[in-house]
Amino acid sequence: MADKLTFLHLSDIHFDAEKQDRLEMNRDLRDQLQRDIKNELKPKLGAFNGVLVTGDIAYSGEACEYERAQKWLDGLCAMIGCDESQVWVVPGNHDVERNKVKNSKPLSDIHKILREKKISELDNEIIATLRDETYKSILFNPIANYIKFASKYECNITPEKPFWESSGMKLNEMKLNDGSDLCFWGMTSTIVSDAMDDVNTAKLVLGRPQVLIPTEDPSKTYVTLCHHPLDWLHDHDNIVPYLNSRARVALFGHKHKEWIVLQEVEGNKTLFIVAGAVHPERDCKWQPRYNVISFEIEGKEANRSLKVYVYSRVWGGKSPSFQTDWSKDGKEYREYTIPLEVWYPPQAQNCLAKEAVKMEDQSCLMKTVRGDSSKPSQTTGSREFTYKFLSLPFHEIVSIGAKLELFQDEDAGVSESDLVGRFCERAQTQGKLQELITKVISTYDKKKGDK
Ligand SMILES: [Fe+2]
Repeated sequence: MADKLTFLHLSDIHFDAEKQDRLEMNRDLRDQLQRDIKNELKPKLGAFNGVLVTGDIAYSGEACEYERAQKWLDGLCAMIGCDESQVWVVPGNHDVERNKVKNSKPLSDIHKILREKKISELDNEIIATLRDETYKSILFNPIANYIKFASKYECNITPEKPFWESSGMKLNEMKLNDGSDLCFWGMTSTIVSDAMDDVNTAKLVLGRPQVLIPTEDPSKTYVTLCHHPLDWLHDHDNIVPYLNSRARVALFGHKHKEWIVLQEVEGNKTLFIVAGAVHPERDCKWQPRYNVISFEIEGKEANRSLKVYVYSRVWGGKSPSFQTDWSKDGKEYREYTIPLEVWYPPQAQNCLAKEAVKMEDQSCLMKTVRGDSSKPSQTTGSREFTYKFLSLPFHEIVSIGAKLELFQDEDAGVSESDLVGRFCERAQTQGKLQELITKVISTYDKKKGDK
Protein backbone atom coordinates (compact mmCIF):
# COMPACT_ATOMS: atom_id res chain seq x y z
CA MET A 1 0.00 0.00 0.00
CA ALA A 2 3.03 2.28 0.16
CA ASP A 3 2.26 4.09 -3.08
CA LYS A 4 -1.38 4.72 -2.32
CA LEU A 5 -2.71 7.91 -0.77
CA THR A 6 -4.89 6.93 2.17
CA PHE A 7 -7.37 9.07 4.11
CA LEU A 8 -9.82 8.64 6.93
CA HIS A 9 -13.29 9.81 5.91
CA LEU A 10 -15.35 10.81 8.94
CA SER A 11 -18.67 12.58 9.10
CA ASP A 12 -21.16 13.80 11.65
CA ILE A 13 -18.94 13.49 14.70
CA HIS A 14 -21.26 15.92 16.53
CA PHE A 15 -18.79 17.02 19.18
CA ASP A 16 -20.60 17.88 22.38
CA ALA A 17 -23.74 16.01 21.58
CA GLU A 18 -22.77 14.92 25.10
CA LYS A 19 -24.82 17.85 26.30
CA GLN A 20 -27.78 15.82 25.18
CA ASP A 21 -27.09 13.20 27.83
CA ARG A 22 -24.93 10.94 25.67
CA LEU A 23 -21.57 11.56 27.29
CA GLU A 24 -20.17 8.12 27.88
CA MET A 25 -21.47 6.45 24.72
CA ASN A 26 -20.02 9.07 22.40
CA ARG A 27 -16.70 9.20 24.20
CA ASP A 28 -16.49 5.42 24.07
CA LEU A 29 -17.27 5.43 20.34
CA ARG A 30 -14.47 7.90 19.63
CA ASP A 31 -12.06 5.84 21.74
CA GLN A 32 -13.10 2.68 19.93
CA LEU A 33 -12.68 4.34 16.55
CA GLN A 34 -9.08 5.23 17.43
CA ARG A 35 -8.50 1.73 18.76
CA ASP A 36 -9.85 0.22 15.53
CA ILE A 37 -7.52 2.31 13.42
CA LYS A 38 -4.52 1.57 15.61
CA ASN A 39 -5.06 -2.17 15.94
CA GLU A 40 -6.74 -3.14 12.68
CA LEU A 41 -6.17 -0.63 9.89
CA LYS A 42 -2.80 0.99 10.44
CA PRO A 43 -0.91 -2.32 10.62
CA LYS A 44 -2.42 -3.23 7.22
CA LEU A 45 -2.39 0.14 5.47
CA GLY A 46 0.59 1.93 6.99
CA ALA A 47 0.61 5.67 7.71
CA PHE A 48 -2.34 7.74 6.51
CA ASN A 49 -2.09 10.98 4.54
CA GLY A 50 -4.86 12.85 6.33
CA VAL A 51 -8.43 13.12 7.57
CA LEU A 52 -11.46 14.26 5.56
CA VAL A 53 -14.46 15.43 7.61
CA THR A 54 -17.69 16.03 5.70
CA GLY A 55 -19.41 18.27 8.22
CA ASP A 56 -21.27 18.28 11.51
CA ILE A 57 -18.02 18.44 13.42
CA ALA A 58 -19.87 20.22 16.22
CA TYR A 59 -23.34 19.70 17.60
CA SER A 60 -24.42 23.31 18.16
CA GLY A 61 -21.67 25.27 16.37
CA GLU A 62 -20.22 26.57 19.65
CA ALA A 63 -16.57 27.53 20.13
CA CYS A 64 -15.97 25.05 22.97
CA GLU A 65 -17.12 22.18 20.72
CA TYR A 66 -14.42 23.03 18.17
CA GLU A 67 -11.77 23.20 20.88
CA ARG A 68 -12.61 19.64 21.86
CA ALA A 69 -12.82 18.54 18.22
CA GLN A 70 -9.38 19.99 17.47
CA LYS A 71 -7.82 18.22 20.44
CA TRP A 72 -9.34 14.91 19.39
CA LEU A 73 -8.26 15.39 15.77
CA ASP A 74 -4.70 16.20 16.94
CA GLY A 75 -4.59 12.85 18.73
CA LEU A 76 -6.11 11.07 15.76
CA CYS A 77 -3.52 12.53 13.36
CA ALA A 78 -0.69 11.48 15.66
CA MET A 79 -2.13 7.98 15.74
CA ILE A 80 -2.46 7.60 11.96
CA GLY A 81 0.98 9.05 11.35
CA CYS A 82 0.23 12.35 9.63
CA ASP A 83 0.86 15.94 10.62
CA GLU A 84 -1.94 17.45 12.71
CA SER A 85 -2.54 20.06 10.00
CA GLN A 86 -3.53 17.39 7.45
CA VAL A 87 -7.27 17.69 8.02
CA TRP A 88 -9.86 18.97 5.52
CA VAL A 89 -13.33 20.04 6.61
CA VAL A 90 -16.63 21.40 5.30
CA PRO A 91 -19.54 22.72 7.41
CA GLY A 92 -22.72 20.81 8.21
CA ASN A 93 -26.06 21.93 9.63
CA HIS A 94 -24.82 21.20 13.18
CA ASP A 95 -21.96 23.65 12.61
CA VAL A 96 -24.57 26.42 12.35
CA GLU A 97 -25.42 28.24 15.59
CA ARG A 98 -29.16 27.88 15.41
CA ASN A 99 -29.84 30.57 18.03
CA LYS A 100 -28.24 33.17 15.80
CA VAL A 101 -30.58 32.20 12.97
CA LYS A 102 -33.65 31.90 15.14
CA ASN A 103 -33.20 35.38 16.57
CA SER A 104 -32.59 37.11 13.25
CA LYS A 105 -35.62 37.94 11.14
CA PRO A 106 -33.52 39.32 8.24
CA LEU A 107 -31.58 36.06 8.15
CA SER A 108 -34.71 33.92 8.14
CA ASP A 109 -36.13 36.12 5.38
CA ILE A 110 -33.01 35.67 3.19
CA HIS A 111 -33.12 31.92 3.72
CA LYS A 112 -36.75 31.80 2.64
CA ILE A 113 -36.10 33.87 -0.48
CA LEU A 114 -33.20 31.65 -1.58
CA ARG A 115 -35.00 28.41 -0.80
CA GLU A 116 -38.00 29.45 -2.90
CA LYS A 117 -36.18 31.07 -5.80
CA LYS A 118 -36.73 29.60 -9.27
CA ILE A 119 -33.79 27.36 -10.15
CA SER A 120 -33.07 29.39 -13.28
CA GLU A 121 -32.64 32.54 -11.18
CA LEU A 122 -30.98 31.01 -8.14
CA ASP A 123 -27.28 31.44 -9.05
CA ASN A 124 -27.71 35.18 -9.62
CA GLU A 125 -29.68 35.55 -6.41
CA ILE A 126 -27.03 33.70 -4.39
CA ILE A 127 -24.23 35.79 -5.91
CA ALA A 128 -26.10 39.05 -5.30
CA THR A 129 -26.87 38.08 -1.70
CA LEU A 130 -23.32 36.97 -0.90
CA ARG A 131 -21.93 40.21 -2.33
CA ASP A 132 -24.41 42.50 -0.60
CA GLU A 133 -22.63 44.38 2.19
CA THR A 134 -25.52 44.00 4.65
CA TYR A 135 -26.56 40.44 3.86
CA LYS A 136 -23.11 38.93 3.65
CA SER A 137 -22.18 40.02 7.16
CA ILE A 138 -25.23 38.34 8.67
CA LEU A 139 -25.39 35.29 6.41
CA PHE A 140 -22.11 33.74 7.62
CA ASN A 141 -22.42 34.96 11.21
CA PRO A 142 -24.01 31.68 12.43
CA ILE A 143 -20.94 29.71 11.24
CA ALA A 144 -18.33 32.13 12.63
CA ASN A 145 -16.97 29.55 15.09
CA TYR A 146 -16.77 26.92 12.36
CA ILE A 147 -14.91 29.35 10.06
CA LYS A 148 -12.33 30.07 12.75
CA PHE A 149 -11.80 26.33 13.26
CA ALA A 150 -11.63 25.55 9.51
CA SER A 151 -9.13 28.34 8.78
CA LYS A 152 -6.53 26.50 10.89
CA TYR A 153 -6.66 23.75 8.28
CA GLU A 154 -6.59 26.19 5.33
CA CYS A 155 -10.23 25.38 4.59
CA ASN A 156 -11.20 29.05 4.77
CA ILE A 157 -14.58 30.13 3.45
CA THR A 158 -16.03 33.61 3.04
CA PRO A 159 -19.32 34.92 1.62
CA GLU A 160 -17.41 35.92 -1.53
CA LYS A 161 -15.81 32.47 -1.83
CA PRO A 162 -17.78 29.82 0.10
CA PHE A 163 -15.63 26.97 -1.27
CA TRP A 164 -11.96 26.02 -1.04
CA GLU A 165 -9.39 24.04 -2.98
CA SER A 166 -6.58 22.14 -1.25
CA SER A 167 -3.34 24.04 -1.55
CA GLY A 168 -0.05 24.86 0.07
CA MET A 169 0.58 21.42 1.44
CA LYS A 170 3.78 19.51 1.54
CA LEU A 171 4.56 18.66 -2.05
CA ASN A 172 4.88 14.92 -1.63
CA GLU A 173 1.71 14.40 0.34
CA MET A 174 -0.83 14.68 -2.43
CA LYS A 175 1.15 13.23 -5.31
CA LEU A 176 -0.41 10.12 -6.76
CA ASN A 177 1.88 7.31 -7.80
CA ASP A 178 2.30 8.63 -11.37
CA GLY A 179 3.28 12.13 -10.20
CA SER A 180 -0.15 13.69 -10.85
CA ASP A 181 -2.05 15.56 -8.13
CA LEU A 182 -4.99 14.50 -5.98
CA CYS A 183 -6.90 17.72 -5.17
CA PHE A 184 -9.66 18.29 -2.63
CA TRP A 185 -12.46 20.76 -3.26
CA GLY A 186 -14.72 21.75 -0.34
CA MET A 187 -18.21 23.26 -0.68
CA THR A 188 -20.61 24.97 1.73
CA SER A 189 -24.13 23.53 1.67
CA THR A 190 -25.22 25.41 4.81
CA ILE A 191 -25.75 28.89 3.35
CA VAL A 192 -29.48 28.76 4.18
CA SER A 193 -29.41 26.06 6.85
CA ASP A 194 -31.78 26.58 9.78
CA ALA A 195 -34.43 24.75 11.79
CA MET A 196 -36.60 24.49 8.66
CA ASP A 197 -34.15 22.17 6.80
CA ASP A 198 -36.08 19.35 5.15
CA VAL A 199 -35.19 17.06 2.27
CA ASN A 200 -38.65 17.53 0.75
CA THR A 201 -40.11 20.85 1.81
CA ALA A 202 -37.16 23.15 2.60
CA LYS A 203 -34.07 22.14 0.69
CA LEU A 204 -30.67 23.79 0.81
CA VAL A 205 -28.85 25.75 -1.88
CA LEU A 206 -25.30 25.51 -3.20
CA GLY A 207 -25.06 27.62 -6.36
CA ARG A 208 -23.08 26.74 -9.48
CA PRO A 209 -20.17 29.08 -8.64
CA GLN A 210 -19.26 26.53 -5.96
CA VAL A 211 -18.78 23.72 -8.46
CA LEU A 212 -16.73 25.51 -11.12
CA ILE A 213 -13.90 23.07 -10.67
CA PRO A 214 -11.09 23.90 -13.13
CA THR A 215 -10.77 21.57 -16.12
CA GLU A 216 -7.69 22.86 -17.91
CA ASP A 217 -5.10 20.75 -16.09
CA PRO A 218 -5.42 16.97 -16.59
CA SER A 219 -2.69 16.38 -14.01
CA LYS A 220 -5.25 17.25 -11.31
CA THR A 221 -7.86 14.74 -10.15
CA TYR A 222 -10.58 16.25 -7.96
CA VAL A 223 -12.29 14.80 -4.90
CA THR A 224 -15.11 17.03 -3.60
CA LEU A 225 -16.39 17.37 -0.03
CA CYS A 226 -19.90 18.56 0.78
CA HIS A 227 -22.04 17.89 3.84
CA HIS A 228 -25.48 17.53 2.29
CA PRO A 229 -26.05 14.82 -0.31
CA LEU A 230 -27.37 16.06 -3.63
CA ASP A 231 -31.03 15.15 -3.00
CA TRP A 232 -31.03 17.79 -0.24
CA LEU A 233 -30.24 20.57 -2.72
CA HIS A 234 -32.88 22.82 -4.23
CA ASP A 235 -30.48 23.37 -7.17
CA HIS A 236 -29.69 19.66 -7.50
CA ASP A 237 -30.27 19.74 -11.28
CA ASN A 238 -27.78 22.59 -11.68
CA ILE A 239 -25.09 20.93 -9.61
CA VAL A 240 -25.15 17.29 -10.74
CA PRO A 241 -23.78 17.84 -14.30
CA TYR A 242 -20.81 19.78 -12.91
CA LEU A 243 -19.92 17.12 -10.36
CA ASN A 244 -20.40 14.32 -12.88
CA SER A 245 -18.09 15.94 -15.39
CA ARG A 246 -15.45 17.45 -13.08
CA ALA A 247 -15.19 15.44 -9.87
CA ARG A 248 -14.02 11.85 -9.96
CA VAL A 249 -15.00 11.21 -6.35
CA ALA A 250 -17.67 13.16 -4.41
CA LEU A 251 -17.84 12.76 -0.62
CA PHE A 252 -20.87 13.63 1.50
CA GLY A 253 -22.19 13.20 5.05
CA HIS A 254 -25.42 14.04 6.86
CA LYS A 255 -27.54 11.01 6.01
CA HIS A 256 -26.20 8.83 8.81
CA LYS A 257 -26.42 5.87 6.45
CA GLU A 258 -23.71 4.82 4.06
CA TRP A 259 -24.47 5.01 0.35
CA ILE A 260 -21.89 4.38 -2.38
CA VAL A 261 -22.53 4.38 -6.11
CA LEU A 262 -20.38 4.74 -9.22
CA GLN A 263 -22.31 6.80 -11.76
CA GLU A 264 -21.47 7.22 -15.42
CA VAL A 265 -22.75 10.16 -17.44
CA GLU A 266 -21.59 10.66 -21.03
CA GLY A 267 -18.40 8.69 -20.45
CA ASN A 268 -17.49 10.42 -17.16
CA LYS A 269 -17.51 8.23 -14.09
CA THR A 270 -17.92 9.71 -10.62
CA LEU A 271 -17.87 7.75 -7.39
CA PHE A 272 -20.44 9.17 -4.93
CA ILE A 273 -19.77 8.25 -1.30
CA VAL A 274 -22.15 9.25 1.47
CA ALA A 275 -20.40 8.36 4.72
CA GLY A 276 -22.30 6.99 7.64
CA ALA A 277 -22.14 8.99 10.86
CA VAL A 278 -19.56 8.50 13.60
CA HIS A 279 -22.26 9.58 16.10
CA PRO A 280 -25.68 9.06 14.58
CA GLU A 281 -28.86 10.33 16.11
CA ARG A 282 -30.07 7.94 18.76
CA ASP A 283 -33.59 7.85 17.39
CA CYS A 284 -32.56 6.20 14.13
CA LYS A 285 -30.97 2.83 13.54
CA TRP A 286 -27.94 2.62 15.82
CA GLN A 287 -25.04 1.92 13.49
CA PRO A 288 -22.04 4.25 13.79
CA ARG A 289 -19.58 3.93 10.93
CA TYR A 290 -16.69 5.51 9.11
CA ASN A 291 -14.60 4.83 6.01
CA VAL A 292 -10.97 4.64 5.01
CA ILE A 293 -10.36 5.53 1.37
CA SER A 294 -7.20 4.83 -0.62
CA PHE A 295 -6.34 6.24 -4.05
CA GLU A 296 -3.81 5.19 -6.67
CA ILE A 297 -3.32 5.49 -10.41
CA GLU A 298 -3.41 2.43 -12.63
CA GLY A 299 -2.03 2.54 -16.18
CA LYS A 300 -0.53 5.58 -17.81
CA GLU A 301 -0.95 8.30 -20.42
CA ALA A 302 -4.04 7.45 -22.53
CA ASN A 303 -4.99 4.53 -20.30
CA ARG A 304 -4.92 6.09 -16.87
CA SER A 305 -7.51 5.18 -14.24
CA LEU A 306 -8.05 6.20 -10.65
CA LYS A 307 -8.37 3.17 -8.42
CA VAL A 308 -10.37 3.83 -5.27
CA TYR A 309 -10.45 1.38 -2.35
CA VAL A 310 -13.13 1.91 0.29
CA TYR A 311 -12.81 0.19 3.67
CA SER A 312 -16.18 0.48 5.44
CA ARG A 313 -15.98 0.15 9.21
CA VAL A 314 -19.20 -0.36 11.09
CA TRP A 315 -20.13 -0.64 14.76
CA GLY A 316 -21.53 -3.96 15.92
CA GLY A 317 -20.78 -7.55 16.79
CA LYS A 318 -21.07 -9.53 19.97
CA SER A 319 -18.24 -7.54 21.54
CA PRO A 320 -19.25 -4.03 20.46
CA SER A 321 -16.49 -2.48 18.38
CA PHE A 322 -15.78 -1.17 14.88
CA GLN A 323 -15.20 -3.90 12.35
CA THR A 324 -15.31 -4.64 8.63
CA ASP A 325 -18.75 -4.25 7.10
CA TRP A 326 -18.88 -7.71 5.54
CA SER A 327 -22.33 -7.02 4.09
CA LYS A 328 -20.54 -5.20 1.23
CA ASP A 329 -19.87 -8.02 -1.24
CA GLY A 330 -18.32 -10.08 1.56
CA LYS A 331 -14.99 -8.30 1.04
CA GLU A 332 -12.83 -6.29 3.38
CA TYR A 333 -12.88 -3.39 0.95
CA ARG A 334 -14.63 -2.37 -2.23
CA GLU A 335 -12.63 -1.41 -5.28
CA TYR A 336 -13.63 1.04 -8.03
CA THR A 337 -11.94 1.95 -11.32
CA ILE A 338 -12.54 5.43 -12.72
CA PRO A 339 -11.06 6.30 -16.12
CA LEU A 340 -9.13 9.59 -16.18
CA GLU A 341 -8.19 12.06 -18.87
CA VAL A 342 -5.12 11.49 -20.97
CA TRP A 343 -2.06 12.89 -19.23
CA TYR A 344 1.56 12.69 -20.28
CA PRO A 345 3.83 13.35 -17.34
CA PRO A 346 6.72 15.72 -17.97
CA GLN A 347 10.03 13.88 -18.09
CA ALA A 348 10.89 15.10 -14.64
CA GLN A 349 7.82 13.38 -13.31
CA ASN A 350 8.80 9.85 -14.10
CA CYS A 351 8.88 7.13 -11.55
CA LEU A 352 11.65 8.91 -9.67
CA ALA A 353 9.70 12.14 -9.26
CA LYS A 354 7.89 11.23 -6.12
CA GLU A 355 11.06 10.27 -4.29
CA ALA A 356 12.86 13.38 -5.52
CA VAL A 357 10.05 15.65 -4.37
CA LYS A 358 9.92 13.87 -1.06
CA MET A 359 13.64 14.38 -0.49
CA GLU A 360 13.49 18.03 -1.52
CA ASP A 361 10.46 18.59 0.67
CA GLN A 362 12.03 17.01 3.72
CA SER A 363 15.20 18.97 3.18
CA CYS A 364 13.28 22.28 2.93
CA LEU A 365 11.18 21.51 5.97
CA MET A 366 14.23 20.67 8.03
CA LYS A 367 15.87 23.90 6.94
CA THR A 368 12.72 25.79 7.81
CA VAL A 369 12.53 24.25 11.24
CA ARG A 370 16.23 24.75 11.89
CA GLY A 371 16.05 28.27 10.56
CA ASP A 372 19.10 27.96 8.34
CA SER A 373 17.46 28.20 4.93
CA SER A 374 18.50 31.01 2.64
CA LYS A 375 15.12 30.87 0.89
CA PRO A 376 12.44 29.48 3.18
CA SER A 377 9.72 27.83 1.16
CA GLN A 378 6.28 29.29 1.54
CA THR A 379 4.74 26.24 -0.07
CA THR A 380 6.56 23.61 1.87
CA GLY A 381 4.77 22.89 5.09
CA SER A 382 2.52 25.93 4.71
CA ARG A 383 -0.49 24.00 6.07
CA GLU A 384 1.55 23.03 9.08
CA PHE A 385 2.66 26.64 9.56
CA THR A 386 -0.91 27.99 9.21
CA TYR A 387 -2.22 25.38 11.62
CA LYS A 388 0.39 26.18 14.25
CA PHE A 389 0.04 29.96 13.89
CA LEU A 390 -3.77 29.93 14.14
CA SER A 391 -3.75 27.44 17.01
CA LEU A 392 -1.87 29.92 19.21
CA PRO A 393 -3.91 32.07 21.61
CA PHE A 394 -4.80 35.45 20.11
CA HIS A 395 -2.48 37.35 22.45
CA GLU A 396 0.46 35.18 21.30
CA ILE A 397 -0.34 35.89 17.65
CA VAL A 398 -0.41 39.63 18.33
CA SER A 399 2.73 39.40 20.45
CA ILE A 400 4.69 37.66 17.67
CA GLY A 401 3.50 40.27 15.17
CA ALA A 402 4.44 43.09 17.51
CA LYS A 403 7.90 41.69 18.28
CA LEU A 404 8.72 41.42 14.59
CA GLU A 405 7.18 44.87 13.95
CA LEU A 406 4.56 43.36 11.65
CA PHE A 407 1.57 44.69 13.57
CA GLN A 408 -0.03 47.94 12.36
CA ASP A 409 -2.82 50.13 13.74
CA GLU A 410 -5.08 49.22 10.82
CA ASP A 411 -5.07 45.59 12.05
CA ALA A 412 -7.36 46.36 14.98
CA GLY A 413 -10.55 44.31 14.75
CA VAL A 414 -9.56 41.98 11.89
CA SER A 415 -10.09 38.24 12.26
CA GLU A 416 -7.25 36.00 13.39
CA SER A 417 -6.89 34.38 9.98
CA ASP A 418 -6.74 37.79 8.25
CA LEU A 419 -4.20 38.98 10.81
CA VAL A 420 -1.99 35.98 10.20
CA GLY A 421 -2.27 36.54 6.44
CA ARG A 422 -1.22 40.19 6.87
CA PHE A 423 1.75 39.23 9.05
CA CYS A 424 2.94 36.73 6.44
CA GLU A 425 2.65 39.24 3.60
CA ARG A 426 4.55 41.90 5.54
CA ALA A 427 7.17 39.40 6.70
CA GLN A 428 7.69 38.35 3.08
CA THR A 429 8.05 41.97 1.93
CA GLN A 430 10.38 42.89 4.77
CA GLY A 431 12.55 39.77 4.48
CA LYS A 432 11.41 38.46 7.86
CA LEU A 433 9.57 35.35 6.75
CA GLN A 434 12.16 32.93 8.08
CA GLU A 435 12.18 34.73 11.42
CA LEU A 436 8.38 34.56 11.56
CA ILE A 437 8.29 30.83 10.73
CA THR A 438 10.91 30.02 13.35
CA LYS A 439 9.14 32.10 16.00
CA VAL A 440 5.72 30.56 15.33
CA ILE A 441 6.99 26.99 15.29
CA SER A 442 9.07 27.39 18.45
CA THR A 443 6.19 29.11 20.31
CA TYR A 444 3.70 26.43 19.25
CA ASP A 445 6.03 23.56 20.10
CA LYS A 446 6.85 25.08 23.49
CA LYS A 447 3.15 25.49 24.32
CA LYS A 448 2.44 21.93 23.20
CA GLY A 449 5.35 20.68 25.32
CA ASP A 450 4.07 22.60 28.35
CA LYS A 451 0.68 20.83 28.23
FE1 LIG B 1 -26.09 17.02 9.08
